[in-house]
Amino acid sequence: MKKILFATSEAVPFIKTGGLADVAGTLPKYFDKKKYDVRVMLPKYMCMKQEWKDKLKYKTHFYLELAWRSQYAGVLEMELDGVTFYFIDNEYYFGGGAPYGNIHEDIEKFAFFSRAVLSALPLIDFRPDIIHCHDWQTGLIPIYLDNFRYGGEFYRGIKTIMTIHNLKFQGVWDKKTVQDITGLPDYYFAPDKMEAYKDANYLKGGIVYADKVTTVSNTYAEEIKTTFYGEHLDGLMNARSNCLSGIVNGIDYEEYNPQTDKMIAKTYSADTFRKFKKKNKTALQEELGLEVDERKMLIGIVSRLTDQKGFDLIAYVMDEMCQDDIQLVVLGTGEERYENMFRHFAWKYQGKVSANIYYSEEMSHKIYAACDAFLMPSLFEPCGLSQLMSLRYGTVPIVRETGGLKDTVEAYNEFEKTGTGFSFSNYNAHEMLGIVRYAERIYYDKKRDWNKIAERGMKKDFSWKNSAKQYEALYEEM
Ligand code: ADP
Ligand code: GLC
Repeated sequence: MKKILFATSEAVPFIKTGGLADVAGTLPKYFDKKKYDVRVMLPKYMCMKQEWKDKLKYKTHFYLELAWRSQYAGVLEMELDGVTFYFIDNEYYFGGGAPYGNIHEDIEKFAFFSRAVLSALPLIDFRPDIIHCHDWQTGLIPIYLDNFRYGGEFYRGIKTIMTIHNLKFQGVWDKKTVQDITGLPDYYFAPDKMEAYKDANYLKGGIVYADKVTTVSNTYAEEIKTTFYGEHLDGLMNARSNCLSGIVNGIDYEEYNPQTDKMIAKTYSADTFRKFKKKNKTALQEELGLEVDERKMLIGIVSRLTDQKGFDLIAYVMDEMCQDDIQLVVLGTGEERYENMFRHFAWKYQGKVSANIYYSEEMSHKIYAACDAFLMPSLFEPCGLSQLMSLRYGTVPIVRETGGLKDTVEAYNEFEKTGTGFSFSNYNAHEMLGIVRYAERIYYDKKRDWNKIAERGMKKDFSWKNSAKQYEALYEEM
C-alpha cells in the first residue's frame, strides 16, 4: 500500500477560491483504495463554514520553532467519502476573512503551514511515501524536506511532487525576510535553488527540489517552457523538462451531474436535454430579471474576474456583442475594474445582461445548466474546470486555444460534423467576437447541429477516472 499526502492551501468542500480546491478535494477519492492511502492536509481557516468546523476532531498539537518564534500548531481531522483530511490549526495565521490576503502575510503563513505539515507527520503516525504539493503555498515543503533529511530518519526517502496549477503565482518576497521567517540556511538562497531575480521564490524552490513536477494539462506543460507563458521561470521549466509532465484535470461527476443535480430547476441527461434543458434557462431568466424567452441564446460566464480569464477581450467588444440577439449572464468576483464593467453593462442592457458579482456554488450550477454557451477566452489557462462543467451540462464552450482549454474542447467542424465547442487562437477581441458570432449562427440557423455539439460534449468523459490513473502511474514510477 503506497501512502500519499496531498498538501494544499484549499480543498472542497471545506474551503475554495478556485479550481485548486476542486482538484485537491476530489481527486483523492478516485485513487484505487486497495493500492493507495491518500490523505490531505490543509490549513484550518477560521473562515471555513461552521458546519465543517464543528465536524473536525482534535488529534494532537505541538509547538513549532519557526526561526526565533515558537508557534502553536494544532492538528484536527475528519474523514469524508473515505478520505482522511487533516487540518493545521493556528488562529494567528489562519484567522483572516479569506485564505489569502497580503502577500507578505501569506509568505509567513505558508512557511508556517509547510513546516507544520512535515512536523505533524510523525505525531499523527503517517509516513507518506510521497508528498504531493500543490502550488506556491506548499513550495517550501520539498526544501524543508531536503533540510530535514539530514536531521531525522523519519523523513529520509520521502519523495515529492510539485504540481503547478498556476505558474503566475509564485510566492515571491525578499530573501532576507524569507530567511528570517523560514529559518532556512543561506545555502538555499542561491540562484540555482530558491532565489529568482534576487528574491526568494517559494514555487521555484519547490520546482527545483521536487522529484517530479507536473502541471494540469499537456499544452500548459509545453507552454510554460516559452517566454510568453513562462512567467520568468521558462528557463527553469526547460531545465526540468525531463521531470515535467502534464496531467489534465477532471471534475467530480457526482457533484456535477445534470441528471441528479438538486440545485437546478429541471434535471436532464444526454437523451433528454433537448426537451428539458431549456426549463433551466427560463427559470434563470426569470430569477435574474432577464427577458424570459426560451429561444434566446444565453451565454454564461462563471469565473474569477482577473486578467488571466480574458476579460480585456470581452470589455473591448462588449457593446458590439450586445447588439446581437443574445443574453449574457456573469457570475464572478475579483478585480474591481471587471466587476464594475459587468455592473455597468447590466445597467446599460437591462433584461439582456445579468451581472452577479458574488460567489455562489448554487448559482454556478444553475448557470452551467441554463446556458446554451459558455464563454472562456482566457489569456492563459493551466487547465480550466468551468469548460468541463459546461460540457457535462450540455452547455457549449467558446474558448481560446490555450492550455487545458485546447486539450479539452474540440473545435466544431461544420463539414465533418465533429467537435464539442468553438475556439479561436489569437488573443484578439475581434477574433473572439467572430467566433461568438459564428456560434450564434449555428445556434439560430442549424439547431440540430448545435444540439449534436452539445450532445457530443455531454458524452465525453472528463471524470477523474483517467487522470487518477495517470497520477497512479506517476506514483509508481517514483
Ligand atoms: P481557476 O482555478 O483559475 O479559478 P477553474 O476553471 O479551474 O479556474 O476553476 C474555477 C472554479 O471556481 C469552478 O469550479 C467554477 O465553477 C468556480 N467559480 C469561480 N467563480 C465562482 C463564483 N463566483 N461562484 C461560484 N463558483 C465559482
Ligand atoms: C488554477 C488554474 C486553472 C486550473 C486550476 C486547477 O487555478 O487557473 O486553470 O483548472 O488551477 O488545476
